[in-house]
Amino acid sequence: MRRVIACALLLAAPAAAQDGRLVFERSCASCHAVASDAPPMAGPNLQGVLGRRVAGDAGFDYSPVLREAGQAGDTWDTARLARFLEDPEEMYSGLWMGGNGLRSEAERRAVVEWLTTNGGAR
Ligand code: HEC
Repeated sequence: MRRVIACALLLAAPAAAQDGRLVFERSCASCHAVASDAPPMAGPNLQGVLGRRVAGDAGFDYSPVLREAGQAGDTWDTARLARFLEDPEEMYSGLWMGGNGLRSEAERRAVVEWLTTNGGAR
């Protein structure tokens, strides 16, 4: 009986609210820092990314496609970030982030929320 309950909990887990910090640590933190004083990493620092111009980390050497988008005025809001994470390459073809988006909508929502309110907040 106990085993049946454990199984039911496991099955229910993907539908439950995702923890954005955990999603970030698992899927993004290998390349992205969020602390303003963090050393350089493979990807730009995401501190304050919401409301920031695309390619807005002055210390990071972005791909041409991201630099041009930023110069054209693209800014990260929650909708753009969620769409970006669904398929980064589709939004900015030639991007240097590869296929590192998030397939799960719940995970995308959680990580955007976390970047808005905690890790990436200014
Ligand atoms: C394998 C390394 C890697 C992983 C994993 C990764 N990224 Fe990136 N990310 C990059 C690189 C490199 C860039 C810069 C791309 C460019 O210049 O074309 C980038 C760019 C970005 C940008 C644009 C930032 C700006 O200043 O305009 C955002 C937002 C972003 N990543 C979010 C995420 C999130 C959220 C995750 C986790 C779901 C993630 N990334 C996972 C490497 C990574």
